[in-house]
Amino acid sequence: MAKRAFLIGDPVSHSRSPLIHGHWLSKHGIAGSYEAIHVKQADVGAFFSSLAHSGFVGGNVTVPHKEAAYAHAVVKDGIADEIGAVNTLWFEEGKLCGTNTDSYGFAQNLDERAPGWDSGGPALVIGAGGASRAVIHALKSRGFADIRVANRSVERARDLQSGFGPKVSAHGLESLDEVAQGARLVVNTTSLGMEGDGKIPLTMSRLHHSALVTDIVYVPLETPLLKSARLAGLRTVDGLGMLLHQARPGVEKWF
Ligand code: ATR
Repeated sequence: MAKRAFLIGDPVSHSRSPLIHGHWLSKHGIAGSYEAIHVKQADVGAFFSSLAHSGFVGGNVTVPHKEAAYAHAVVKDGIADEIGAVNTLWFEEGKLCGTNTDSYGFAQNLDERAPGWDSGGPALVIGAGGASRAVIHALKSRGFADIRVANRSVERARDLQSGFGPKVSAHGLESLDEVAQGARLVVNTTSLGMEGDGKIPLTMSRLHHSALVTDIVYVPLETPLLKSARLAGLRTVDGLGMLLHQARPGVEKWF
């Protein structure tokens, strides 16, 4: 019987994941499906409660349900625990298992596109939401010792600081240019730069001359942040590879 995997989110229709999984399934001749399902916040509990009898082998979870997925997974690994969110679910011996592949996807993308990216900090992470947690996890595990988190609401950055420890410092977005001084790696984890959205107030000359600037936004592929970095002669990596690499572990689990 064809194996079925799901993607839940709210919204979900904009996601490129069904395109990626659909391509891989047909390319490798796998009898399976990957279905995007729009699940509202109020319905996510019911979705997870009925999952064991739904016929799905597992699936992906996107915003805003990653914390709920973490809460509902029975077996979780250390990465999921550290990030506090789950984006990939599968069943083992009838038990719902969960991990978070965003950190892996982020690091794999840079390994592929900018080898040596992890050779030194300081690192500047813009944003303090779920994506930021995954990026900070990756940076910590690659040995970054000076991780500066700048966020519009500094309180959320402070929460990350208390969760991830003394290698992380918390700052407000208004002091971005000060915090950026000498940074060798910049990661945007906010939605700023997405089509029609606002701009990140960062002066490129503040950064180290060999800095790498990367964005998790991939629509457009070259965000205003990446464009100004490129024009300033800095190295850039777009966010599409992170999406591809975070999708791989799921395929291995389900199909
Ligand atoms: P995700 O799980 O994708 O990271 P999230 O948890 O909603 O999503 O986090 C969104 C991030 O983008 C946050 O850092 C948010 O800043 P706040 O914590 O201050 O809300 C940031 N963000 C979203 N819109 C923004 C805007 N217009 N200006 C500045 N930051 C913004």
